[in-house]
Amino acid sequence: MTPARGKFVTLEGVDGAGKSTHLAWIAERLRARGREVVVTREPGGTPLGERLRELLLSEPMHIETETMLMFAARREHVARVIAPALKAGRWVLSDRFSDATYAYQGGGRGLSFDRIAALERWVHGDLQPDLTLYFDLSIEVARQRLAASQVSPDRFEREGSGFFDRVRSAYLERAAAHPGRIRVVDAAQPLEIVKESLEKLFIEYC
Ligand code: TYD
Repeated sequence: MTPARGKFVTLEGVDGAGKSTHLAWIAERLRARGREVVVTREPGGTPLGERLRELLLSEPMHIETETMLMFAARREHVARVIAPALKAGRWVLSDRFSDATYAYQGGGRGLSFDRIAALERWVHGDLQPDLTLYFDLSIEVARQRLAASQVSPDRFEREGSGFFDRVRSAYLERAAAHPGRIRVVDAAQPLEIVKESLEKLFIEYC
């Protein structure tokens, strides 16, 4: 018998919103509920995708090159990791997916959403996340958290607050346009409160 298709869950937010911490915790909670979970990330998630990630996070490049490399890595990721796992009945938890391209390359850098939508249709026209958690945080607090984390900032994290304001606005616009799929989580709350609201959300969702 073919297993029921798994669920595709993505986590989004500006750098510093804390989604990586929450991702590990969500994976643990889902496993405790008996789900088989694949944890992955973008850009990356495959050997080639991880090599593209290294370039994307360090090498200055034209905005269209940046966008196409994001989608090239995504094409590998969908074909080799995401689609096969969902087909086998596993849940896929991805740290970022195409909403990040709309927010960073579209909102942040100003590439037209139409261009992004064309690449999205090409690369994964038949696959969208079932659920997206968008961790929302003011840019001021996000930047304080990033500064406190003391890891050396990558090419995106070095951008100024104007860039991150545009990224956040684009995320919020997408959340308003896709209210069924994208849930906004207030990431300014204490960790325990955020966890409680995630727990409730997954009880409803599982
Ligand atoms: P991030 O998840 O923030 O990695 P880390 O937590 O290790 O810093 O992702 C890396 C960066 O890639 C992040 O700054 C956002 C950027 N990004 C885009 O600009 N467009 C995209 O489509 C994706 C997936 C990521």
